[in-house]
Amino acid sequence: MRILSVAAAYVFAISAYAADSHTNSPSHLWKTYDSVLSNAKYIDLTHTIEPDMPIWRGFGNITFSQAVNKLTGKPFTYEKDLFVANAYQLTTDQMGTQLDAPAHFNPFFAAADEIPATFALRKLVVIDVSDKVAKNASYATSVKDVLEWEAKHGRIPAGAVVFVRSDWSRTWPAVNTDVFPQVSLETVQFLHLQRSILFHGHEPLDTDMTSDFAAERWLLTHGYAQAEGVANLHKVPATGCLLSTGFPKFLGGTGNYVRYVAICTPDWPQGVVPGTISEAPLPKYKNALVWDAQKGHRSRT
Ligand SMILES: *[C@@H]1O[C@H](CO)[C@@H](O)[C@H](O)[C@H]1NC(C)=O
Ligand SMILES: *[C@@H]1O[C@H](CO)[C@@H](O)[C@H](O)[C@H]1NC(C)=O
Repeated sequence: MRILSVAAAYVFAISAYAADSHTNSPSHLWKTYDSVLSNAKYIDLTHTIEPDMPIWRGFGNITFSQAVNKLTGKPFTYEKDLFVANAYQLTTDQMGTQLDAPAHFNPFFAAADEIPATFALRKLVVIDVSDKVAKNASYATSVKDVLEWEAKHGRIPAGAVVFVRSDWSRTWPAVNTDVFPQVSLETVQFLHLQRSILFHGHEPLDTDMTSDFAAERWLLTHGYAQAEGVANLHKVPATGCLLSTGFPKFLGGTGNYVRYVAICTPDWPQGVVPGTISEAPLPKYKNALVWDAQKGHRSRT
C-alpha cells in the first residue's frame, strides 16, 4: 500500500509538473514574478567603474580609451564605422564593487569563472554599524553586533548574503582607503561556521586593516567568496530584500566586477519599480555621449 501511494504521489507530481510546463498556465516562478517581483523596488548597490576611482594602494591607475579600428589605426566613429567602442586598461581585477573569488588567495578554490550561477539571487541581510563607525573610523564589526541584529530581526537565514553597512562609501570617491571600518575575523567565522551564510560584504575595499589580511585571508583560503566596495546600503532595510548578483566570467579571474541590486518590498520608499521608467526603449538623452580626452572617458556634458 505504501509503495502504491508513493507511486501515486509520484504520478501526481509528474502530472502537476507536466501541467505547469506544457500548458498555457504560468509556472509558479512567473506567477511570483507577476505578484511580487514586478512590483518590487530595485536599488543599485554598485559603484560606477571610472578612471581615478579609489583603488588599493598597490594597484596602478586604470585608464579608458577609444577602441581603435586596427584596419585604419583610427578610433571608431559613428560617421565612418556606424558605431564606437571603448578599450579599458585595467591594472587589476580587484577594484570597484567586487565579488572576491577564493582563488584571489588560494589557487585550489574557485576562480571568477568557477563561481556558480546559484549566486544570482539570495536573501539579503543588512547589519548597520554606521553609528559605531561615526565614533570610530576603524570600528570592527563584532559577533556582538550580529547577535544584537538577531535579537531584533531573528536568526540570519542560512544561504543569505550579509552586508555590513558602515556608510564609509557615502562620500565616494573621496574615501579613506587606509583607515576604514573593518569586519573582524571572528565575525566572518561566526557568519560562515555558525550561520552558514553564502557570503558577506562590506563597503571598504578591504575586510580589515591587519597587515596580513587576517579576515579576508581566512575567508578566501577556506573557499568563501566575499563582496567588497558595496554602495548605497543606507537605502536598504535590515531584512526583507533579495540580492541580485550579476558578474562577468573572466577565465581564471581572481576578482569579479559585479553589479549588486537589492530587490525590496513595494512599500519600501527607496528604489525603482519595473515599467515605471523607460526600459525598452531606454531613454534618449538631450546631450550626446562624446569622448572627453581631458577626463579620459566618454561623457554627456
Ligand atoms: C593616479 O590617479 C591619481 C588619482 O587621480 C593621481 O593623483 C595620480 O597622479 C595618478 N597616477 C598616475 C601615474 O597617473
Ligand atoms: C576603534 O576600533 C578598532 C577595532 O575594533 C579598535 O582596535 C580601536 O581601539 C578603536 N578605537 C577607539 C578610539 O576606540
